[in-house]
Order: sequence, then C-alpha cells, then structure tokens
Amino acid sequence: MKIIISKNKKQASKQAAEMIIKQVKKKPGSVLVLATGGTVILVYKEVVKISNKEKIDWSNVKTFNLDKYLGLKEKNKHSFRFFMDKYLFNRINIKKSNTFFPTTNFKDYESKIKKAGGIDFEVLGIGRNGHIAMNEPGSSFKSRTRVVTMNPVTRKDNSRFFHSLREIPKKGITMGISTIMSAKKIILLGFGNKKSNAIKEALEGPITKEIPASVLRKHKNTTIMIDKKAAAKLKQNYNKV
Ligand code: F6R
Repeated sequence: MKIIISKNKKQASKQAAEMIIKQVKKKPGSVLVLATGGTVILVYKEVVKISNKEKIDWSNVKTFNLDKYLGLKEKNKHSFRFFMDKYLFNRINIKKSNTFFPTTNFKDYESKIKKAGGIDFEVLGIGRNGHIAMNEPGSSFKSRTRVVTMNPVTRKDNSRFFHSLREIPKKGITMGISTIMSAKKIILLGFGNKKSNAIKEALEGPITKEIPASVLRKHKNTTIMIDKKAAAKLKQNYNKV
C-alpha cells in the first residue's frame, strides 16, 4: 500500500485528479468507480479543468457510483446522480448512458460491472467511523451490492448537505466490500482533522470489519492520499510530499 501525505487538500486533490486522467488516457474505455461527498468535489473540479485543457475524451469511459440514497429520485438535488452531474458528468464529454448507479436489482449492477470488464480504477472517500461507500462498521468483507441502513454518525455528517437531519433517508444502496476490493487500482482520499482517527485506525490498527477501510491493506494496488491534518495521528513515518 502506498501512502501519500500532501501538505494540503488542494495539492492532494490535484494529484488524485492527475491519476484519474492518466488512467483515462492510458485506457480510453476505462471502467471507473466513483464516490460522492465533500472530499471529492475539488478532485472532480480538477479533473474537469484538466479535461478541458487537454481535451480528454471521456466518450468511451464507463462509471459506476459506489452508492446512493434509497428512495431519492435522480432529479432530487440531494441525490448522488445530481451531485455527479453537477460536479463532473455535465462538464466532460462522458455519455450519460455510460454512467451507472446501484439499483435494488443488485445482481444486475454487479453483472453490468463484470460485463464492462471489471473495475479499472476506483475513487474512495472515508467516513469518520472508517466506512467506505456505505459499508458501515460491522459490514462483512465478503459483502456485495445491497441495501444498508446508514449509521447515525454518517447521517449526521451528511446532514450538512440537507436542511435537516430528518430529510436524510435512513437507508442506502451500496457496493459491497468484496465488489470494492475487486478493483484493479484504488485510491482512498481523506482530508482534515475529522478524518485523522479513521485514517489512523485504517492504516495502523487491526484489519477488522469494525473499520471497513482497514480491508484496503489486503489490496495489491491501493494508494492512500491524505493531507497533513488527516495524517496527524499516524505513528509511523511516511513520506510527505
Ligand atoms: C459516498 C461515499 C462515502 C464518502 C464518505 C466521506 O459516495 O462513498 O463513503 O466517501 O462518507 O464523505 P465526505 O467526503 O463527505 O467526508
């Protein structure tokens, strides 16, 4: 596992964006798995910037999102589809018909990924409690795409995007940990003090389903991209850039 500690979120986001672009340039028909949330906004803005500047062709790329709220229509401005359109899909030349979100037909989602050739590159964020996608603490490492109940910590954290906590759906559909681990290459992003505990547990604590992100230490090609603040509680010395 590679760990890159950047001096700030901006630098880390730029670097992550460059990795995504490099993947698309190398394989124009790449299959990408993408996250939503506060962490990735700047990353997608950088991706858009580079794509426009270098005229990157996204027309053959397929994307699969990690998760979505159960019961929110795509048009709802809190839906993950709305988020992806706003920050990325509407700003690059990707075909909307090549962008997918999980549905309650879980098997269909998994088989679409398989049919597309499997996941080439995956972008993950991390929750304060160590979750990845909506795989909350206690999720099996063998889990596949399914309906889950969101942890109260996650609902509270996500409430910043809504008017009130009551508005946030209690359930979501998430790609499972085993599906996530099938990606050829993974980057996990974590920025700010709020993520420092989760990063410490994921990288230096036991590999346990209580900290879902700790499973990434079993993956062959994962890069952890964090800023100094998120790295503050790490005990070991890692290279800082
Ligand atoms: C959302 C997702 C989540 C987020 C995580 C961090 O698609 O996969 O696991 O990555 O909750 O959220 P932010 O970036 O808002 O702190």
